[in-house]
Amino acid sequence: TSNRLRDGHGRDIRYLRLSVTDRCDMRCTYCMAETMQFAPTRELLSLDELDRLASAFIKRGVRKLRLTGGEPLVRAGVVDLITSLGRHLRRGALDELTLTTNGSQLVRHADALAAAGVRRINVSLDSLNPKTYQRVTRGASLRRALDGIAAAQRTGIAVKINAVALAQDNADEMPELLHGVHALACDLTLIEVMPIGDVGRDRADQFLPLTAVRRQLEQHFTLIPSSLKTGGPARYWQVSETGRQLGLISPLTRNFCADCNRVRVSAKGRLYLCLGHMDGADLRAPLRADSTDEAIHRVLDEALAHKPQRHEFDVQRGAKPAVVRFMSATGG
Ligand code: GTP
Ligand code: 5AD
Ligand code: SF4
Repeated sequence: TSNRLRDGHGRDIRYLRLSVTDRCDMRCTYCMAETMQFAPTRELLSLDELDRLASAFIKRGVRKLRLTGGEPLVRAGVVDLITSLGRHLRRGALDELTLTTNGSQLVRHADALAAAGVRRINVSLDSLNPKTYQRVTRGASLRRALDGIAAAQRTGIAVKINAVALAQDNADEMPELLHGVHALACDLTLIEVMPIGDVGRDRADQFLPLTAVRRQLEQHFTLIPSSLKTGGPARYWQVSETGRQLGLISPLTRNFCADCNRVRVSAKGRLYLCLGHMDGADLRAPLRADSTDEAIHRVLDEALAHKPQRHEFDVQRGAKPAVVRFMSATGG
C-alpha cells in the first residue's frame, strides 16, 4: 500500500465527496423521481463511521472533503460530524472542508459551520424567480433558501450558487440569473444536466448545452477566462460588469474527465469510482468488520485500479440513463 491514492490512469485522488444521507427536503425534477424510496436509517453509515472513513481518506492524501446528500443538513447530527472533521483543517491535513446544500437548513446551521472551519459552500438554486424555483423543486420556498444564503454570508462563509441549466425551466432566465446571483455577492456555476437516475422525463427535453448559454450571456456580459481553480470540474470566467466569477460545468459539451481527481462515497458506504458508472466497492463491511483501517485501505487500492477513464453520458432522445442510481444516492 503506497501512501497516495492513485487510479489506474495515473490520476491522484485528492477530493472526496461524502454523502451523509440520500434524503432531501426538496424533489428537484432533474434529480429525483416524484416518489422516491430512501434507505432505512440502519443501512446508513453512522456518524462515527463517516468520521472514521473520511479520516482514512485524508490519511491517504485527500485534501478536499465535501459533504453531500441528498441534502446533507437534514441528516441528524451532521453538524457534530462537521465540527469533528474540522480537526483535520486545524492540523493542516485538509485544505478544504465544505458542503453542497440546497440552503433550506442554513439559517439554523450557518454559525456552527463557520465555527467548524467551513469557509465556502455551494448552494443549489436553479432560479431567482419564485415560480420557476417552485416548479423545479416541486414546491420549495425560494425565500427560505435566500434567507439561508444570507445567514451563511453573515458568518463570513462565501457562497457559490449552482444552477443546472434546464431547457424547460430557466433557459430564458440566464442573464437575469447571472446578474441576480452576482448582486447577492455570490459566484455562479452553471451545470449541464446529466442522465443520472430515471426521473420520469426524457433528458433530451431537459438538456440545455452550456455552449449556447455562454453565447447568450456574451450578448449581455463580458466574459474573461479566469485562472480560478477550485479543484472541481468547473471552468471559470470573470464577468467584467459584476467583478464576480461564472463557472461552467459542461460534462456533455466539454469533457473534463482527464483531470478527474475525485471519488464518491454514498450514505450506505459504497465507494463510487465515477459519477457516470455503476462501478464501486463496499466500504461499510470493512468498516464494521475490522478494528484497524488496513482492510479499508486494501479495498480502496483494489477499487481505484479500476476507476473508469470517463463517463459516457448520452442525452439523445430515448437514451437510457447512464446509471440507474439517482444523484441523491451518489451525492452529485
Ligand atoms: P467546487 O469546489 O466549488 O469546485 O465544487 P464542485 O463543482 O466540485 O462541487 P459541487 O457539489 O458544487 O458540484 C457541482 C456539480 O458538478 C455536481 O453536482 C455535478 O453535477 C457536477 N460534478 C461534480 N463533480 C463531477 C464529476 O466528477 N463528474 C461529473 N460528470 N460531474 C461532476
Ligand atoms: N445533472 C446535473 N446536476 C445535477 N444535480 C442533481 N442532479 C443532477 C443531474 N442529473 C446537481 C444539483 C446540485 C448538485 C449536487 O448536483 O443541482 O447542485
Ligand atoms: Fe471523474 Fe467520472 Fe466525473 Fe469524469 S465523470 S470527472 S471520470 S467522476
